[in-house]
Amino acid sequence: MSAPSKVKIVEVGPRDGLQNESQIVTATDKVELIKQLTTAGLQYIEVGSFVHPKKIPQMANCDEMFDLLGKIKYSGVTYAALTPNMKGYQRALAAGADEVAIFSAASESFSQKNTNCSIAETFDRFTPLVEAAKNDGIKVRGYISCVVACPYEGEISTDKVVDVADRLFQMGCYEISLGDTIGKATAAPFCEMISRVSQRVAIKHLAVHCHDTYGQALTNIYAALQLGIATVDSSVAGLGGCPFAPGASGNVATEDVVYLLNGLDIDTGIDLAALIQAGNYISDILGKANGSKVALAAPQPSAPGN
Ligand code: HMG
Ligand code: MG
Repeated sequence: MSAPSKVKIVEVGPRDGLQNESQIVTATDKVELIKQLTTAGLQYIEVGSFVHPKKIPQMANCDEMFDLLGKIKYSGVTYAALTPNMKGYQRALAAGADEVAIFSAASESFSQKNTNCSIAETFDRFTPLVEAAKNDGIKVRGYISCVVACPYEGEISTDKVVDVADRLFQMGCYEISLGDTIGKATAAPFCEMISRVSQRVAIKHLAVHCHDTYGQALTNIYAALQLGIATVDSSVAGLGGCPFAPGASGNVATEDVVYLLNGLDIDTGIDLAALIQAGNYISDILGKANGSKVALAAPQPSAPGN
């Protein structure tokens, strides 16, 4: 299998990125960020999550965001939301989300900390949700956290990842995003895990979701591309982390992924300069440096040979 000629980027900055920032960004500022990301050419944006507002106060304005977004939604762009259960799904449906994502884990301890239930119980919550989404014509994406390592349990058995991926796919998720939640994976075990999962769920239905805590994200993504992975989750300006994964830093920066893909001549349809501007916009609001290496190297962010 060789690298794909086209890669879909799932922009998770407004959700995974901002859920872990101590500062709560207003709905208006988040929607301005989403507008800029759309203008830069991103076609799939995870807007936020419909989780308990006391657990993740940063996401409490998700309903308001969708309300504001309703007026400016661009056609051809998917505006998605994370939903842990029926209540979240109903909120997402009422808000007008185009798609939803359910999330489980390959680690029991992480599942408990993150969603206050076991892995098996996450599926009890998903069953009515996926059924309702089928009836409503809403596509469902599935996430698995801790696919290689867990902040509480250490190394994770790939058997568990295969099992959870298979169950999510069988129940109706069209794509399974494999989350290296604490960014601890190196390329060899990461690829070994993907290869094993792809024996059960075809590679075209798999995505990678790399946090960059150990600086391995781009290497792991490059290796995953060689296996035929064609969907990559990333976060503008490298924002992010998970409040229930101590030490987890940001997701891989979208700007850096686009730079890598440009250098490989892989089409993303994204305007890198406009994307850098969007990253600078949100970094200014947060009062922090842009976490993308490519953005810091601007204003000449084109890969040699391009
Ligand atoms: P729970 O306490 O088990 O839920 O929370 P419950 O069903 O027992 O209900 C308890 C109360 O919560 C009730 O309210 C419900 O109505 C309310 P009360 O009657 O006490 O007033 N409730 C809700 N309210 C609003 N929206 C909802 C909702 N559900 C119940 N959807 C729950 C379960 C999952 C909701 C909670 O634990 C939670 O919100 N956790 C936050 C999880 C989260 O957002 N984590 C971060 C995202 S995952 C991630 O970052 C990883 C990922 O990026 C991949 C990777 O990197 O690995 C995806
Ligand atoms: Mg994440």
